Amino acid sequence: MKLSDKVLAMQHSPIRKFNPIAQKAKEAGKKVYHLNIGQPDIETPDCFMNAIKNFDEKVVAYAESGGVTILQDAISDYFKQYGMNYGRDQIIVTNGGSEALSMIFISLLNPKDEVLIPEPFYTNYHTFVTMADGVVVPITTTPEEGYHYADAEKIEAAITPNTKAICCISPGNPTGVVLTLDEMKLIGEIAKKYDLWIIADEVYREFAYDGREVTSFGMMDDLADRVIIVDSVSKRFSACGARIGCIAAKNKDLLDNLMKIAQGRLCSPTVDQIGAAALYKLPKSYYNEIRAEYEARRDAVYEELMKIPGVVCQKPGGAFYLTAKLPVEDASDFLMFLLTEFDDHGETVMFSPAEGFYATPDLGREEMRIAYVLNQKDMARGVQLIRLGMEAYSKR
Ligand SMILES: Cc1ncc(COP(=O)(O)O)c(C=O)c1O
Repeated sequence: MKLSDKVLAMQHSPIRKFNPIAQKAKEAGKKVYHLNIGQPDIETPDCFMNAIKNFDEKVVAYAESGGVTILQDAISDYFKQYGMNYGRDQIIVTNGGSEALSMIFISLLNPKDEVLIPEPFYTNYHTFVTMADGVVVPITTTPEEGYHYADAEKIEAAITPNTKAICCISPGNPTGVVLTLDEMKLIGEIAKKYDLWIIADEVYREFAYDGREVTSFGMMDDLADRVIIVDSVSKRFSACGARIGCIAAKNKDLLDNLMKIAQGRLCSPTVDQIGAAALYKLPKSYYNEIRAEYEARRDAVYEELMKIPGVVCQKPGGAFYLTAKLPVEDASDFLMFLLTEFDDHGETVMFSPAEGFYATPDLGREEMRIAYVLNQKDMARGVQLIRLGMEAYSKR
């Protein structure tokens, strides 16, 4: 019996694959600071739990395939505050941003169609594109340039007759890069020139620091027909387990065809949708609070990181990730050392080696990604452990 070439071409998550080794370190009595996974520690707002507690239907029935209307309307109102006008019928509720992405790639791609993605990128894109028989074509960026990719020459060099779409994750995972409106316009012009779809993954929309504006491809009327917005409650509302996200688009043909897939999987979880509707109705002050908290964490991480000689990293502008080049040949080997041979007062640390975030073989070997999802004190200690570990590693 054989498996498909498609599944064999996929990779295990580079974020999770070191977990069994971390588990062994814990069993050996070490405390491990987890800087490797984007699971925020911030409490899910009460309104989510309250809405679920007040759900008093006698049957947990299927919802409409496009989503329950109170959620679609809440998302539509939420978008309006940023000048993004998507009506109820232009929003399809999905099982997180993850299902939104799978549905989008299945709808857009024929075998061997290419999708441009700046690398390093959120690693599951590889899985989603491969599931849809497509091919990821990376636009390579570097730590020295702060992972910026809004460069016409760079983007156009990657375009071929098979290119169907460009994916822009802004604010970005794993780099924290935030596109400005001017950069979005530049990408929009390229998309128009080559007739590409723009997949705008904006699940970290409000996580933009240093006074940066919240930006969205959904604000641009001239791109309306080609922009596909991916949204999610996971990060913004610290509700990763709710598994609620959405696709927002204005292209009728696309929406109509996406609905076939939505109907095929029946619906997103009914009760979680009720909770999510309450989240999308939260006032703007909620975003200001979480933004201030993550910005302070970013600063704590960056300050500590800059104490490590030889690290290359430009201060990231958003999301809750930082990718940096370390003064090592192989960040995975250094991570293994941290988990198996090193501790400081019984404590060690875990990050994600960034190699798995690249599509180009051998790139990113010296880089790591940190998710700043712990409180400031723990984040600073975690990065301090990386520094102490680095000192011990280089003395071996
Ligand atoms: C850029 C990006 N897009 C999409 C997702 C998918 O998240 P979810 O399915 O929880 O909405 C993630 C999760 O980490 C992400 O970082």
